[in-house]
Amino acid sequence: MTDTATREFSTVGVIGLGTMGAGIAEVFARNGYSVIGVEVNDGGVERGRQHLEHSTGRAVKREKMTEDQQSELLGRITLTTDMTALSAADLVVEAVVESLAIKKSIFASLDGIVRDDAILATNTSSLSVTEISTANSKPGRVIGVHFFNPAPVQNLVEIIRTVVTEPAVLEQVQGVLRDLGKNPVVCGDKAGFIANTLLFGYLNHAVAMYEGKYASREDIDAAMRFGCGYPMGPLALLDLIGLDTAYEILDTMYKQGRDRLHAPAPILKQYVTAGLLGRKSGRGFYTYE
Ligand code: CAA
Repeated sequence: MTDTATREFSTVGVIGLGTMGAGIAEVFARNGYSVIGVEVNDGGVERGRQHLEHSTGRAVKREKMTEDQQSELLGRITLTTDMTALSAADLVVEAVVESLAIKKSIFASLDGIVRDDAILATNTSSLSVTEISTANSKPGRVIGVHFFNPAPVQNLVEIIRTVVTEPAVLEQVQGVLRDLGKNPVVCGDKAGFIANTLLFGYLNHAVAMYEGKYASREDIDAAMRFGCGYPMGPLALLDLIGLDTAYEILDTMYKQGRDRLHAPAPILKQYVTAGLLGRKSGRGFYTYE
């Protein structure tokens, strides 16, 4: 599938089929790759299946895809709870919750499963790729690939190279991402990478503005949409990202840089504790059907 001279990639594993993982699985399957999607239990598999059916169903409704193309795409994705299925993967993309302990345990267990030449990627938004890589016996084959939400739509993917990532691994991952029609950018391993470092200070500021009752949520969002041409206002975007994810990203960036800009606005934590996680839970700054 990819035109990198050194290596043919045809099978991709995706671990974790939440919003991001399911979106990533869809992107690969859309581009002809065989995808093995792994979840921790049957409930996770079912949730992943629903994500995939909903997203591709939306494309069918908009006449961007026929029903036959949708079934072909879904037919390229195998969903399982069995990690050993990843032995067939050329590339594994981990997209589970932002927990260093969980990610490290996954990268450790991949050791006994994947082929020696497989590339292991993490979709972490803010954790240290270097730390995650140390859990595996081949840290040189570990790299960050950070997709943006919604993954089937946003063209940017940040590639995070650590000080030990093999240059050939970086080159091959760039080739695969270009093959998906994505626009990869490369950066070093620092919390937030390029886009979130720039984006989250702004999002956090919008939450503080809302929390301080300076303006309504609608007016804060309208100001940025109609005044600055952003496709979504900051509070609607936070609901799309997930308030739990947003909180974790801000908290990690704050702990690393101690920049007040990233000290999570208190109401964000309160929403997360109350289970208001944004679109995925049906309510965040806004309420969803
Ligand atoms: N899954 C798949 N496709 C989707 C989708 C989803 N969740 N949401 C929208 N789309 C597709 C639609 O099907 C449509 O495709 P076509 O043009 O082919 O028909 C296209 O996207 C446009 O959708 P809509 O017309 O429904 O809505 P829109 O024009 O308002 O676009 C949006 C929706 C793409 C989400 C747009 O508002 C946008 O780009 N918002 C900003 C998103 C953003 O900033 N993302 C980055 C978040 S930060 C991040 O992800 C990093 C992190 O670590 C948290």
